[in-house]
Amino acid sequence: MATVCNRKEIEASKDVHIKGDNPNFLEDAASPQQGVWKERPLEVGLKLPCRWRDGTWQEAEILERKEDSLSGEFLYYVHYSGFNRRLDEWVNSSRIDWKAIEEGRVRWNKGNSNKKKKDKKRKSSEDTENKKTESGKLENITKVKNVDRIVLGKYIMETWYYSPLPPEYHNCSTLWVCEYTLNFLRSEAALKRYQQRHSIRMPPGSEIYRKDNISVFEIDGAVQKFYCQNLSYLSKFFLDHKTLYYDVDPFWFYVMCEVDEYGCHIVGYFSKEKESEDNYNVACILTFPAYQRKGYGKFLISFSYELSKIEQKVGSPEKPLSDLGLLSYRSYWSQVLVDLLKNEKQPISIQEISERTMMKMEDIISTLQVLGLIQYYEGQHVLDLRRIDNIKFGSKGLLCDPSCIKWRPKVTTFVNK
Ligand code: ACO
Repeated sequence: MATVCNRKEIEASKDVHIKGDNPNFLEDAASPQQGVWKERPLEVGLKLPCRWRDGTWQEAEILERKEDSLSGEFLYYVHYSGFNRRLDEWVNSSRIDWKAIEEGRVRWNKGNSNKKKKDKKRKSSEDTENKKTESGKLENITKVKNVDRIVLGKYIMETWYYSPLPPEYHNCSTLWVCEYTLNFLRSEAALKRYQQRHSIRMPPGSEIYRKDNISVFEIDGAVQKFYCQNLSYLSKFFLDHKTLYYDVDPFWFYVMCEVDEYGCHIVGYFSKEKESEDNYNVACILTFPAYQRKGYGKFLISFSYELSKIEQKVGSPEKPLSDLGLLSYRSYWSQVLVDLLKNEKQPISIQEISERTMMKMEDIISTLQVLGLIQYYEGQHVLDLRRIDNIKFGSKGLLCDPSCIKWRPKVTTFVNK
């Protein structure tokens, strides 16, 4: 069995000493024998240069380690410092800068100094992995991805994050998903057999939008629990900062599809609380990676605001936004505000802009600040449109056509037990 190279061992090694005034740096770690380090697994918590996808060295922290059952080689799950966690990945020893280790250019993550304690803690949280909290939500308990890729329709997509799937799908490197029913399967053959038995070729729920080849379906989480839970599991592969809610009853799901002669292919969705105390009009929004950067995210955002206009309720997306979420919202908000202000002949207040667009005043102000179209003067915000004509947008993207929405707000009634 391979030995574990932990910090104590490194400290004890004759070849290494720890610099007195900074215990987090190893110095003079030159090894007398080339390659000796490669035979010993590296400890979780080490920060060291690792070869990134583009061939450059980037500092990375080892989050997890495993031994390849066939080759016996150690694999490391690394997080690149300063990069989004969706880029975390398993690397083998050929990606590690062993020279940096030999030269002592390696750091420890202070947060991992209590690793043993943490390991114990993690073990117990792993044991309770599938226990739900009272509110029906489950916290993200691990940083390591549990499924490498999903197959959805004609696309294979690499996952970005961990998703707390039901235990029967743990450790399956590829998850096969029926794009119509969102049933999960463990192999291509099983998916084929499943689709031969099931003729459904569209999501459940009601089609509330159709224009050209785009449809949107409204799905009630309380009625289509299985579909909506599986959609939440799938979206968790691409959403890091959201808690997964097992209880989908309180949400509507708006699923966007590309339609062709074979059926309605899901491309993305957003969920929305049936009753939101904070006036959120979107809880989670996702475009599956194979369909991203085609304007579908902005379509979904525009759709959510069109529903808010029909409801006559100002809305905002649930916070915090992800980095990509903020980019997309910022782009939508900027486009809507610049269009409105360019065409407005009369003076207009932030309040009026909010009433027309159903955008929350805070979102309007922050966007105008980013665009440089607002000044804070004598205790109030004043629009300053001198440079509005300099603001140019590329393609406006794909916005939904409100005249094609067939939807009325539902009245939610609560029964007192
Ligand atoms: N890098 C740079 N800009 C990007 C990127 C990217 N990777 N992705 C989108 N954008 C920009 C686009 O350029 C576009 O701006 P522009 O029109 O001014 O050029 C804008 O964001 C929207 O692009 P779309 O193509 O309409 O959006 P897309 O279909 O890619 O979906 C979304 C955006 C939903 C955020 C998608 O990236 C996604 O699903 N990400 C993973 C899940 C996520 O983070 N969701 C948001 C969480 S916040 C919340 O749920 C409330």
